[in-house]
Amino acid sequence: MTAAAVPSDIKSLGKDAQLGYSEFQFGGFKFRRDEYFAHVAWPKGTRIIEIDRFLRALVRDIGWQFFYGWIFFDDVFGTQNHYGSVDIFAGSYDGGYKAAGTDFMETFPTDKVVTAFDTIARDWISEGYDPLRAPQETGTPLGSKRAPRKDALVRGFTPAKRMLGLPGDVTPRSDETGHPVNRAFADLKFEQPEVHAEKGFEGQLNAINLFDHIARSDVTWNPSVASITGASIFCVTSEEHMLPVIHGNDRNEWFIQLSDEIHWQIQDKNTGNPRGRIVMKAGDVCAMPADIRHQGFAPKRSMLLVAENGTPGLDELYAKGKLPPYPLDF
Ligand code: PHB
Ligand code: FE
Repeated sequence: MTAAAVPSDIKSLGKDAQLGYSEFQFGGFKFRRDEYFAHVAWPKGTRIIEIDRFLRALVRDIGWQFFYGWIFFDDVFGTQNHYGSVDIFAGSYDGGYKAAGTDFMETFPTDKVVTAFDTIARDWISEGYDPLRAPQETGTPLGSKRAPRKDALVRGFTPAKRMLGLPGDVTPRSDETGHPVNRAFADLKFEQPEVHAEKGFEGQLNAINLFDHIARSDVTWNPSVASITGASIFCVTSEEHMLPVIHGNDRNEWFIQLSDEIHWQIQDKNTGNPRGRIVMKAGDVCAMPADIRHQGFAPKRSMLLVAENGTPGLDELYAKGKLPPYPLDF
């Protein structure tokens, strides 16, 4: 396995005259796309990935700042976050590539990977296709290059200026601001909570209907922070179709299924061997261990709460075996 710090920048290797897309080199990796597929090459191997899958993973990896641990674009290719640097790997967590010695990994400063991935995304994504939306709610990424997208590819989260609903909150949350309730949640009734503040606390206390908030999300498999208490981070998200990445945990992660259902496929993090399947229904809670990778499938758009422990250095405690990979002993 090659593991070296490669502080190089992304280079264009030229444009496909017919399709209009550029090919890129970043460290030892080369990236090229055609009408249907992304082609990734490294010194000892190549991989072909459906273009939709590749682009949906790419923009999330950038937007999530490489998330916690591993992001697999498919079973073989992906990134690992070291919180300051990022590994890009191919086959490093796949039994077959490891055995054949065709795996490859390079470590880059985080900002270089952001720039590289952003450069590829801007070149390869055309107007009318939004990889953050559910497949039924956006256009196609297939075919030759069309006009480039003009808006933010990785739209920043719209940060709440104040607690939702309090004076000064400008979070878009109504039909008028272009955030209608998603078609999948049209049958829900959103009752608003009653707030009775003690005298002297008027205007400082509020409650919202979180279902109403999540139902208006126009993206999918893209968690937004709902609350942070110390290192405990609650993210809510609206899930339709499949999680476009396979997430390898470097810590425990909790899921609370708020509506409908999600099927999770769980594999060993290092080899990819199957470890289990979970079908989570509304109200179910589960802890994903620190030594697995997982991918979720939502047959119908559903609501999910993801709880993360953002304690710095936690990844190392798990990596060194100082904490067991699961949160509870029964
Ligand atoms: C996860 O990998 O745990 C994950 C990622 C995105 C989501 C939900 C869960 O929307
Ligand atoms: Fe995860």
